[in-house]
Amino acid sequence: MDFPLLPRDIYEEIRKTVVGQDDAIREISVALVKHLVGAPAPNILLIGNSGSGKTTLMRAVEKFLSSRKDLTDFANIVRMNANVLAEEHEGYGRVVLGRLYENAKKMIGESADMNRIIRSVEHGIVFIDEVDKIRAQVSGSPNVRGIVAQEALLTLMENEHVRFDADGFTHVVNSSGILFVAGGAFEELYESVLRRATIGQDVAPLQPIVVVSASGEVREEFPFHLRDYLKYDDIFRYGMTPQFASRFESIIVLNDLAEGDLSRIFVEPEGSIFRTSRDYFQRFGVDLQITRGALIAIAWDASRQKRLGARALREIFRRVIRNLEFDPSAATRDASRVVTVDEAMVKQAVASREQGTARVR
Ligand SMILES: Nc1ncnc2c1ncn2[C@@H]1O[C@H](COP(=O)(O)OP(=O)(O)O)[C@@H](O)[C@H]1O
Ligand SMILES: [Mg+2]
Repeated sequence: MDFPLLPRDIYEEIRKTVVGQDDAIREISVALVKHLVGAPAPNILLIGNSGSGKTTLMRAVEKFLSSRKDLTDFANIVRMNANVLAEEHEGYGRVVLGRLYENAKKMIGESADMNRIIRSVEHGIVFIDEVDKIRAQVSGSPNVRGIVAQEALLTLMENEHVRFDADGFTHVVNSSGILFVAGGAFEELYESVLRRATIGQDVAPLQPIVVVSASGEVREEFPFHLRDYLKYDDIFRYGMTPQFASRFESIIVLNDLAEGDLSRIFVEPEGSIFRTSRDYFQRFGVDLQITRGALIAIAWDASRQKRLGARALREIFRRVIRNLEFDPSAATRDASRVVTVDEAMVKQAVASREQGTARVR
């Protein structure tokens, strides 16, 4: 029997939610399918600036695989914050096994054969978000919580006989086949590698390039892509122990979102900022519209704020829309019940932020 899922199926689905990260999605899709069919698959470390889509991507994969009833015996997938692992003092990853166990019962059924549930745990997929928060040292001093958490994960990755208690029984599982996908922003890693690149410590220093927006505005940027410069050494220095970091055979660096990606994120995905706002106005019988120029201006403004990623969209849009939200129907100028966000409104919101004259109402 053919396996009912191809990497392309995952890729196409995730792309509906996650914009501008196609290479990363492809690579993750392949790793997931390898794991699901029982072939060796690399653990993945996902590095990307804040607001580049790491959490969104993990959520989308979790949602999609969990929704596939035909994969019940294969796709036991859980997502947790790395901090949860730091809470364990002597647990050594049992919290992870506990989650997989609960999830397996939910999927396969409470009364299912215990062997089937344990097999599902041993074949689990674990997403660890904010893995950069479990550094082994922070500014030169050891960070006990981080060390504990890395140890816990390493124990799971290496061990063929891990004991854990559930439902009044002690189970022994081989956790070495669990697939781990960990993600984090690694802020300072970005800074330090960028510094190396701009000073030109081991390569020619970066030269700025000129970027022109769709509406003709101009700025200078350094064409820096972390993935071009990143070494395992940088990750060790950041505070991931070599034993732990080297367990991630695949390191994927997400793209910084460009203006075009940002405007798509603003309108396209289900639950996008604009769709959500439209829904709000709809409740008061108001049809919210946006001009092409306004959309471009919002994306351009957000793309200037590099370290916020797509989160910058929310910040600028809130400035544009808050007065209209306060009194939705008064916002319509005529009987048409249409409110249009135009470029002038966006420019004004940007200018008032820049001059610090935005009044808090
Ligand atoms: N690549 C992307 N595609 C679609 N939406 C994105 C993307 N990146 C960020 N967003 C949006 O920005 C917000 C923050 O994204 P998130 O995935 O939480 O970022 P992080 O990389 O910091 O985990 C979310 O509301 C999400 O909808
Ligand atoms: Mg996140």
